[in-house]
Amino acid sequence: MCKERLSIKPVRICNFGSMNLDYVYQVKHFVQSGETLSSIDRSVVCGGKGLNQSIAMARSGAKVYHAGNVGSTDGHILLSTLVCNDVNTQFVQMQNHASGHAIIQVNQQGENCILLHGGANVTVTEEQIESVLAFFACGDWLILQNEINLLPQIIRKGKQRGLIVVLNASPVDEAGRFLPLEDVDYLFVNEEEACLLSGQSSYDKALDALCSHHKKMTIVCTLGKEGAVVRQGEYCHRAKAIPVRAVDTTGAGDTFLGFFVGALSQGHRIETAMKRALFAASLCVQKEGASSSIPYAHEVEDLIESCKTSE
Ligand code: RIB
Repeated sequence: MCKERLSIKPVRICNFGSMNLDYVYQVKHFVQSGETLSSIDRSVVCGGKGLNQSIAMARSGAKVYHAGNVGSTDGHILLSTLVCNDVNTQFVQMQNHASGHAIIQVNQQGENCILLHGGANVTVTEEQIESVLAFFACGDWLILQNEINLLPQIIRKGKQRGLIVVLNASPVDEAGRFLPLEDVDYLFVNEEEACLLSGQSSYDKALDALCSHHKKMTIVCTLGKEGAVVRQGEYCHRAKAIPVRAVDTTGAGDTFLGFFVGALSQGHRIETAMKRALFAASLCVQKEGASSSIPYAHEVEDLIESCKTSE
């Protein structure tokens, strides 16, 4: 089945994902129902789980192609940000819609809450899926998040083509429980998302249930300040987060995934991927913004080295 991969082609990553303009408001506390609250500060930055993850994978050293849709009037900045980060944008289309956007409140503890508008992200067509996936071959990677439309179709078609399918189920919605997880090779979730997808009340039970239903799938569950755990069949690997003072956690999950998948696609073991991902996320949360706070591979390696010498 994987004959094409026996040739000398290098591994490529196709990230079929969202691109958003993030309107980020610094607030004393998240605005309450019926309350009018003045923000402390505001900035407009490039984000979207798809765009953030493409940049993180590229900064980790992987060869990344981004696919998806932006608006023709407001999407140029999203495209140029990807290009500046060495992400190939030949599969990004301009549509006669506004680009996706997010309204993000960041409180004094660095926590966030996010309101999304899909915009051009949810204008993906069946024809577009066919033409994008036709470029990729068996053994290439397909990365997906839950911020675009036709997700089940992309998962199935990617698997049929022999791609390694990575799904970040975030943000999980009602439809999440009906995604074709049998065609997913790596599932990235946080604790709440694991519970929502499995219908269980704790993340331990949720991971047990997901593992027993999908024996071949590798599940990577992030646990916030506690770190992360990887489960697949009988295999279990846990690692602690690097303790830091967070100023903005936006994009930390995307940075984690990007460095994790970036390392796997470059032939590293799960334990190495986990370490790089946790160190990368710890650097991300110490800066404001989403895509702008994603570190480079050399910064992550330097931090790992400095922690070794201080042990
Ligand atoms: O994961 C962070 C991202 O979620 C933000 O950049 C925002 O656009 C939303 O998609």
